[in-house]
Amino acid sequence: MSLDTTAANRLMTHFDDHDSVWLFGYGSLIWKADFDYLERRPASIRGWTRRFWQGSHDHRGTPDAPGRVVTLVPEDGAICHGMAYRIPPSVFGPLDIREKNGYLRVITPMAFEDAATDAPAQAEGVVYLAGEDNAAYLGPAAEVEIARQIAASHGPSGPNRDYLLNLAAALRELGFDDAHVFELERAVLEIA
Ligand code: BEZ
Repeated sequence: MSLDTTAANRLMTHFDDHDSVWLFGYGSLIWKADFDYLERRPASIRGWTRRFWQGSHDHRGTPDAPGRVVTLVPEDGAICHGMAYRIPPSVFGPLDIREKNGYLRVITPMAFEDAATDAPAQAEGVVYLAGEDNAAYLGPAAEVEIARQIAASHGPSGPNRDYLLNLAAALRELGFDDAHVFELERAVLEIA
């Protein structure tokens, strides 16, 4: 599979005729929403867990020394907390380019976690997933090894460390627990 998933994502036209689409963010989309959105709501998806198992050759590392960023891994009973954005479908164009290193747009149900009683509690939308068959996938490793790689990696978007620390801070701010992310945060801060 090619590293660049932009062309594959353009074939995902399911929501093109909708006025807006819910996009579930579980990584950089939580703390870096540099796109137009109509509203945003804390949300979760079931059956997936967040893991720093995807290589970053273009943002937080380089082709020779990739960093590590998050993807979602299937896990029975797991709940992944994040932030959902209601976006016009035109936003997918730039996002497909920003997230082109192995991520594919996949349709998912999501549950909203705010207390807005007059709004729907669930929706179908989109999540970007980097599966284990993509060329940039690095897969599992001991958390201390992942932390060392994150502490050492830099790319055009900045230090890999900042990606992890921003994600941990955003999850904490939202009141979400994530043992994997918080353990990596602790280990990276210890290395520093
Ligand atoms: C996200 O924050 O949902 C996200 C993570 C990786 C790639 C694309 C989106």
